[in-house]
Amino acid sequence: MVSSSARGSSERPFYARHAEAYDLLITDPVEPWVGAVHDRLRSVGRTPAVVLDAGCGTGRHAAGLVAAGHRVDLVDASADLLSLAVTRCPSARAISADLCELDVPPVYDAVTCRGVLNDMISDRERAAAVRSLAGCLNPGGLLFLDVREERASQSRADGATHRRQVDLGDGARLTFTSRTTWSEGTLRVEEEYDLARPGMPEQRSGYTFAMQPWSEAELRAVLHDSGLRTVQISPGVGRRTADRLFVVAH
Ligand SMILES: C[S@@+](CC[C@H](N)C(=O)[O-])C[C@H]1O[C@@H](n2cnc3c(N)ncnc32)[C@H](O)[C@@H]1O
Repeated sequence: MVSSSARGSSERPFYARHAEAYDLLITDPVEPWVGAVHDRLRSVGRTPAVVLDAGCGTGRHAAGLVAAGHRVDLVDASADLLSLAVTRCPSARAISADLCELDVPPVYDAVTCRGVLNDMISDRERAAAVRSLAGCLNPGGLLFLDVREERASQSRADGATHRRQVDLGDGARLTFTSRTTWSEGTLRVEEEYDLARPGMPEQRSGYTFAMQPWSEAELRAVLHDSGLRTVQISPGVGRRTADRLFVVAH
C-alpha cells in the first residue's frame, strides 16, 4: 500500500505539475549541507563514499556530493522531481520508490535524507521510513537527516500569507502563495499556484496538506528502534530559518 507521504509526492503541485519551479523557489545554499556530510564521512575514513540520497528532490544536494567525489544513488516517490535529479546526476542509479517501504540492500556508506521525514505524519510511516533508511546502511554506515524541529516550527507557523513569483521562461510566471498554521503537533500548509503564460488563460490550483516536525526525544526513540544507537543532534545546516535539526546517526 502506498504511504500517504508518497501519495503526497505525486499530488502536491510543488513536487509534480510545478516541479520545474522547485529550484527557483527553494534556494537555500547547498554547500553547507554537502560540506557537513563530506567532512563527517572523511572523519570516519569513508571517502569516497557510496551514498543514497533518500527523497532527493531535484538532486541539488546529490549533485554536490557527486562533485565532492562520492558515488550517489537517488530515490524519490515523485516521478517529476526524480527525473530532474537524474538530469542533474546522470551517473546516479535512480530508484522510484516509497521510502516507507524501501527494499534496497544494505550497501551504502551513508544515507542522506534532507527535508523529507516531516512529510510523514503518522507514527507508523515515520517509524517505517527511518527503518527503511537504516536498512540501507552497510555496517558502520552513517545516516544524515535534516528535519523540522517541533517548538521552533510551531512558533514560525503564524498564519501569515507568503507570496513569491518566479519566472519560468518564455514569458511564463508562477505565483506561489502559502500559509502555515499549527494544529496539535502538525503544520497545516495551504498552497496556491497561479500559472500565467502568454496568450493562455491563467491556471490556478491549490493544495492543502500537513507536515509533522520532530522533537529530539522522538528522533532518538525512532532511531534507537531502528538499531541506530549513536545519535548526534545539532542545529540545521545551510537553512535560512532556525527551525531545523541536523542529525547524524549510526
Ligand atoms: C521538501 S522535498 C526535499 C528534497 C531534497 N531532499 C532537498 O533537500 O531539496 C521532500 C522530498 O521528499 C520526497 N518524499 C516525501 N515522502 C516520500 C516518500 N514516502 N517516499 C519517497 N519520497 C518521498 C518528495 O517527493 C520530495 O522530493
